[in-house]
Amino acid sequence: MFYCWMAFVSHHTQFTSAFGGLSLFRYSRSRTRTEANLQAWDAADTLLLAHLAKQSTLGRVLVLNDSSGALVCALAQSGRAEAITSAGDSWVAQRAAEENLARNGLTGVNFCSSIDLPDGPVDTLLIKLPKALRLLADQLCRYRALLHQNTQVIFAGMVKHMSAGHFTTIESLLGPTTTSLAEKKARLIFAPVALPASPLPAPVQYQYQGLPLIALANVFSGESLDIGARCLLKHFPEQLPGPRVADLGCGNGILGLWAAKKLPDARVDFYDESMMAVASAEQNAAAWGLADRCRAICGDGMALAEDETYDVILCNPPFHQQQVVGDFIARQMFHDARRCLRAGGELWVVANRHMNYHQSLKRLFGDCTTRSDDTKFVVLTSVKA
Ligand SMILES: C[S@@+](CC[C@H](N)C(=O)[O-])C[C@H]1O[C@@H](n2cnc3c(N)ncnc32)[C@H](O)[C@@H]1O
Repeated sequence: MFYCWMAFVSHHTQFTSAFGGLSLFRYSRSRTRTEANLQAWDAADTLLLAHLAKQSTLGRVLVLNDSSGALVCALAQSGRAEAITSAGDSWVAQRAAEENLARNGLTGVNFCSSIDLPDGPVDTLLIKLPKALRLLADQLCRYRALLHQNTQVIFAGMVKHMSAGHFTTIESLLGPTTTSLAEKKARLIFAPVALPASPLPAPVQYQYQGLPLIALANVFSGESLDIGARCLLKHFPEQLPGPRVADLGCGNGILGLWAAKKLPDARVDFYDESMMAVASAEQNAAAWGLADRCRAICGDGMALAEDETYDVILCNPPFHQQQVVGDFIARQMFHDARRCLRAGGELWVVANRHMNYHQSLKRLFGDCTTRSDDTKFVVLTSVKA
């Protein structure tokens, strides 16, 4: 049985591209079977690398949205790039890439957050197509200043994730596109640097109870407040068991901001793996005049938090990490929350009722109370014994 499992895992971690073999894993703190099961690359990576192998030099390369580092590892292995920079909005993706580079004894890749601008110029821009069109538009405008008229720009993605909106966005910001043939359900899109630079799109702005909120391009819920978040806010308690609050998976920070607004002695820490999410939460805290009581931390769940720190943790958990759908991140978050609550501290969770988190929370905390239960969302609380 053990032997079979090892064979299964190694089959899913040995990546062969046009530049050679690599051992690649997705980032996982727990390395459960579910996560080990997920490949750290897809057919779009393979297709893009096969295309690049036809070129002897790539110049200075910028790679965007490389989900676990398959592209930067293969490029570092190829020796064809003068410099390689990887940028994206996911802390988890960046950590996976760093670990995979180290695992394969590779160096020479610089990392840049989704908000900062790396050094230019860029001769080859490689973009794994993000799901969010707002992020795509942001990236095309943000990095445009680094491109020159001969920069080759190549997008890679699975055909099922490509929408008309992706093509419209690229064509309105760069110029007319052409595509490769599809291979293993993946396709490349090529675009020239033909159009003049456009200004960075403004963040989404809306109000909650008269208070302004912004959300940078890759932040969950987009144009308005998430209905799950709205549901938790509706049932928000008048009293909390103490002032130390964490907003786990904070997005633009609405849950933690509301706690800080309602309870003048609350001190709130915001956690998210999206760099744009923590930046949005920070900007919103400043706009609400709460910056001195709020702190934002970018990382995987509450991995960076100390044990038994919080009186209350608020969580509207994600149901996917990049393109991978599942409840594995929520489960990891509940474990983090239990570790980081002090005895008597409370975890408040809002989720789609079909996720059935009641059972997982009851198993983990030995306690779970349903605070509200409408047709779509449920608000649950668990108290740490
Ligand atoms: C459903 S959204 C909730 C956002 C916000 N709290 C709200 O209620 O509108 C879940 C959030 O979890 C974040 N997230 C996903 N995976 C994460 C991880 N491994 N660690 C921390 N945050 C994560 C996502 O970036 C997203 O902002």
